[in-house]
Amino acid sequence: MRISNEEMLAPTDIPFNQVPPYRVKVVEYTKPTTRAQRKELIKQHNWSAPNLPAEYVYVNMVTDSGTSAMSDRQWVAMWLGDESYFNCKSWYGLEDALQTFTGMKYILPSHQGRSGEGIVYEEFVKAGDLVPSNCHFTTTRAHCYYNDAIPMDMTCPEYYDEKNTSWFKGNIDTVKLEQLFKENADKIGFVELVAPNNLCAGQPVSMANIREVRRIIDKYKKRDVIFSLDVARISENAWIIKKYEAGYGDKSCLEIVQEMMSYADLSHMSAKKCGLVNMGGFVSVRDKINYMKLQPKLIRMDGFLTYGGLAGRDLEALAVGIMEGVNDYYLEDKQRQCDVFANACKARGVATFNPACTLGAWILAEYCLPHIPKKNGPGTALCVQAYIEGGVGFTSMDSLHRGREDSSDPTNVEKIQLAPYELIRCAFPRRAYTDSHYEWCAESLYRAMQWGDKIPGYVRQKMDDIRPPLQKRDIGLRAFFDEYEPLFEHP
Ligand code: F0G
Repeated sequence: MRISNEEMLAPTDIPFNQVPPYRVKVVEYTKPTTRAQRKELIKQHNWSAPNLPAEYVYVNMVTDSGTSAMSDRQWVAMWLGDESYFNCKSWYGLEDALQTFTGMKYILPSHQGRSGEGIVYEEFVKAGDLVPSNCHFTTTRAHCYYNDAIPMDMTCPEYYDEKNTSWFKGNIDTVKLEQLFKENADKIGFVELVAPNNLCAGQPVSMANIREVRRIIDKYKKRDVIFSLDVARISENAWIIKKYEAGYGDKSCLEIVQEMMSYADLSHMSAKKCGLVNMGGFVSVRDKINYMKLQPKLIRMDGFLTYGGLAGRDLEALAVGIMEGVNDYYLEDKQRQCDVFANACKARGVATFNPACTLGAWILAEYCLPHIPKKNGPGTALCVQAYIEGGVGFTSMDSLHRGREDSSDPTNVEKIQLAPYELIRCAFPRRAYTDSHYEWCAESLYRAMQWGDKIPGYVRQKMDDIRPPLQKRDIGLRAFFDEYEPLFEHP
């Protein structure tokens, strides 16, 4: 069932910058609801969009993780899954596909992204280390704390400048990184680059930035340093490099991914994104000794080296999906859909973070609901109201939900920093929705905004009395179990 990148990139004059390169074979019906029902539902669920049962969410843009529609080839491949415990046939096909994708020789399967990260961090991040990144994803940040290390987010200045027109606002600030190495090289054994930078409005990273990180590490390192790429959505990042970084226009996205990887020592991937599967992940390692260090950890945590917590059929689906997900025609269409949504928002006066890049579009909630102070979660409030209006689901990434703990004193809740932007993430489940779904999402946001100051701000509920005190290492995960309440009822 596997298909080569070349085969999928056969020449065409069909304009795949205007129409998708696939058609639909299976459809999933959604549950019809009314505004009154949705208001009642969300009230019952504590005015919390993330608490809603998903069947009542009509267009679910909460995440692009594990929500892809799989292709006919992937479904057929799953029937061929070899479910033998050791060395199943499906593993060899996947290993081969991932060696091609990453350009690295050693592959460890993992059941999803965070389990692969877990073994990598446990092995390579030491107590007291500083772990610089362009901005750690929630789970790698938690892995730092679990290993008594300090995550350091060093997003480039362009990200903080709303008017900046760069396509690479996800870069790491290499001036700061170089300074950190000059002063603290003995404390740095691991550098993480997330491409694209999910928690910074999904902004991509440039090839030049990756190359510069490699140079800095090689110049200043005082001990072994692992340069790690968090590559959940690397194929989508590659598309932006192809379009907007000089010298890459004639390369395929697969070649660009391979070059990005060539600067790193290892990568870990949540394949639930660009792997186009509902479950799966892997770690790729360049050096044999490093691979060997991870082997026992994988066996302890995820399973044998040839399945890593996945069924044989999952391995098959990923072997096909990883190549479909890096196909240029498909990626062009993904960016086009993203533009459809962002433009539909702009046309209605719904403020978006610019640029909107392949993974999704981010809404600047502080402009949509200016009456709600940052600390009272304008993003949280807008998500709830948009659900009431249109049954649509988004993720709030505002100060209330994602304000950052102080890394030197993470348990001090008083010290939580407000987020630079009050964002809502509208993530794009791959191949799952049509342009008209996205028009409806923009319309729902617009209708929500029309209620203006009738929409309440939010506060965090007091911690449940029986909850044990949160430990430093868990504080960054609290957004996923905290409860919030509105200051008054939604309209
Ligand atoms: N790295 C990045 C950049 C991610 O966005 C995620 C997950 C992970 C690692 C962890 O992968 O979920 O397979 O264990 N992101 C999802 C999201 C949950 O909605 O952004 P996982």
